Amino acid sequence: MGTALVTGANRGIGLELCRQLSARGEAVVAVCRTTSAELDSIEDVRVISGVDLLSADAEQVLIDGLDGKPIDLAILNAGILRNETLERLDVESIRAQFEVNALGPLRLASALAPAHLKTGAKLMIVTSRMGSIEDNTSGGRYGYRMSKAAVNMATRSLAHDLGPRGVAAAVVHPGFVRTEMTGGHGFIDPSEAASGIISRCDELHIGNSGSFWHQNGEALPW
Ligand SMILES: NC(=O)c1ccc[n+]([C@@H]2O[C@H](COP(=O)([O-])OP(=O)(O)OC[C@H]3O[C@@H](n4cnc5c(N)ncnc54)[C@H](OP(=O)(O)O)[C@@H]3O)[C@@H](O)[C@H]2O)c1
Repeated sequence: MGTALVTGANRGIGLELCRQLSARGEAVVAVCRTTSAELDSIEDVRVISGVDLLSADAEQVLIDGLDGKPIDLAILNAGILRNETLERLDVESIRAQFEVNALGPLRLASALAPAHLKTGAKLMIVTSRMGSIEDNTSGGRYGYRMSKAAVNMATRSLAHDLGPRGVAAAVVHPGFVRTEMTGGHGFIDPSEAASGIISRCDELHIGNSGSFWHQNGEALPW
């Protein structure tokens, strides 16, 4: 068992990832803006709060909180979903989704890579199949789709750049999950999504680094 870091850990899929990783004996570092009673109730979880991906000091707060601790698995899960249409193109909303969903994971990966991700470490970024260009059959959701397509591309580059150091990176779609993000709608609960994401993390290695998976194991089109 190793040390697993999860962002967006205070609720939704991230909270459930922390619960399941902790239950199987991983040392969990739970990263969030503000902790929650549910997160605090998980035994032996180290919480680093104050990591706001809309803020310029997010990386520094994380690195200070880690205090040099090496990470075996980083699941960069925090994300936001807004809704823009062609008729209501709210550019600030689109920009915020880029900051949180695309730049956020890239900034944290860049901050973690030099000192905290050693040979054999894994980086799993929670994306959405709404970021798949091939899978886009319905349009709309400009900021969300564009930001998730961007993080997919960033992850491919991370796989190339970190591979020589023995660090594998991939993106995973959690399914349509009943969380606050979806207003409680969805096909599955966070427990099923988290369990699938953890299975994909277990399967991730240098040989399949750069993959885009559904949490159920299916390979998704870019
Ligand atoms: N639910 C689905 O059906 C679905 C489908 C596809 C992909 N996903 C992806 O799965 C991931 C988790 O989603 P979820 O359904 O669990 O959503 P959620 O319940 O809305 O949780 C989102 C998490 O992201 C955090 N977050 C939001 N803005 C942040 C910021 N500026 N800085 C740092 N953290 C921030 C939230 O923290 P606060 O409490 O502080 O806001 C929360 O912990 C996201 O990347 C999402 O895009 C979800």
